[in-house]
This record gives sequence, structure tokens and C-alpha cells, in this order.
Amino acid sequence: MSDINSTNPRTLGRGICIITGASKGFGQALGYQVSRSLEPRSVLLLVARSGPLLQEMKEELQSATEEQQLVVHCVAVDLRTKEGVDETVRVARQEAVDEIEHVLLINNAGSLGDIAKFETFTNPDEALPSWVLYCTAKAARNMMFSVLAKEQQHVKVLSYSPGPMDTDMQKEILRLTNVNHNPMPCHESAAKLMKLLLDNNFSSGAHLDFFDV
Ligand SMILES: NC(=O)c1ccc[n+]([C@@H]2O[C@H](COP(=O)([O-])OP(=O)(O)OC[C@H]3O[C@@H](n4cnc5c(N)ncnc54)[C@H](OP(=O)(O)O)[C@@H]3O)[C@@H](O)[C@H]2O)c1
Repeated sequence: MSDINSTNPRTLGRGICIITGASKGFGQALGYQVSRSLEPRSVLLLVARSGPLLQEMKEELQSATEEQQLVVHCVAVDLRTKEGVDETVRVARQEAVDEIEHVLLINNAGSLGDIAKFETFTNPDEALPSWVLYCTAKAARNMMFSVLAKEQQHVKVLSYSPGPMDTDMQKEILRLTNVNHNPMPCHESAAKLMKLLLDNNFSSGAHLDFFDV
């Protein structure tokens, strides 16, 4: 393995890249951009529940990056289940050969869940029109990543907030809340994340927001 903390690599190296939530939206945009920065014979795992969408993406990716001879696997699983996570790890392990320099996990899969307002589960007299469950989960994630970075020195962790993007999730938000967040195309935020990864100047455990970098 090369030093994960070294700065300014030219590419993402020869790696195994696992992208969860790759079937559409931000994960799909990242899949196309990451594939161009991986060195030949790298491995890309596309993970989501929609097998046919992953298969379609795999074919497009392989024809667009023919000279790189990427090994692309579709892992059609539900990541809410232990079986889904185990299967993803199994496929990644089977590809972990000696020449692999890094494992890059882009933990992107997500669903909107319940974006109920604060009032639905606290004192109705002090209700706030906030996304308390969503915000609480994001804050917990940031702390979890900070702890992970401290505990596992050989893992470089980045918590990236991608900003509002024009995806099915954002359409659902508009439908449920009638608030337009002026979403951008996914490839813009994906390009910023790619630059962060390629520059590799962030501290492990950092939380970086699209609008701040
Ligand atoms: N869009 C925004 O404005 C925005 C803003 C901030 C943060 N984010 C975050 O960015 C990430 C991607 O969002 P997006 O807007 O691209 O959403 P999206 O268009 O709804 O895509 C979500 C992806 O996650 C996959 N997924 C959902 N549940 C899954 C499960 N249980 N198992 C496996 N895969 C699952 C979906 O695929 P299948 O349905 O095929 O499983 C899909 O590929 C999310 O974590 C979201 O919270 C988005």
C-alpha cells in the first residue's frame, strides 16, 4: 500500500473504489468522474438496490474507459440489511489483490426518510420548522467520522456536504415541503469532491461543505 496521507497524487492510483448509491443522482455522477481518475486495472464497485440501472451504468462506463480496463462490478443489494453490507464487503475482498494501492469508499447511499418537523415529536408549543432528524443524523455522522479518523490512522476520512443537487431526492423535497433549494447539476458538486480527493490536502476527519471550498 502507498502512503494514504501523501499529498497531491496525480490520480486516485490503482485502487478499489466502492460507491454506494451509484444507480442515480450524486453517486452516479461520481461514478463517471472517479472512473476517469483511476489507474488502469482498478476496480469499481457500483452498489445500490436497482440492479438494471447499475448494469446500464457499468456498460456505459466500460465503453467510455476502454483503455483503462477497469474491472466494474454491480452489487445490487439493500444496504439497510446485514446481508447487503456483507455481500458488498465480500465482492471488495475478492478483488483486493496485492497491486491495489488504496480502497476508496464513497459512502453516499441515502434516502430522505422522515423529514417530519420538530413539532411531531416534541412540545408542540415550541415547535420549530426544522429538519431535526436529518440535521441530528448529519451531526452524528460528522462526529462518527472524527472519531474514526482518530482511531484508525491508516484511514483518511472526509465528510463532504455536497450542497443542493438536482436529484430524485431533491425533487421529493420540493414535493413535500414546497421549498426550492435551487439545486445544481450533480456533476458540479462531484467535480469539487474530485478536486478535494486529488489534491488530498484535507485533514483526516475534516468536514467540508461545497460552499466553503
Ligand atoms: N440531493 C441533494 O440536494 C443532497 C444534499 C445534501 C446531501 N445529499 C446526500 O447525497 C446522497 C445522495 O443523494 P441523491 O440526491 O443523489 O439521492 P438519490 O437521487 O435519491 O439517490 C440515492 C442513491 O442511494 C441509493 N440507495 C438508497 N437507499 C439505499 C439502500 N437501502 N441500499 C442501497 N442503496 C440505496 C439509491 O439507489 P436504489 O434506489 O437503486 O437503491 C440511489 O442510488 C445522500 O446521502 C443524500 O443525503 C443530497
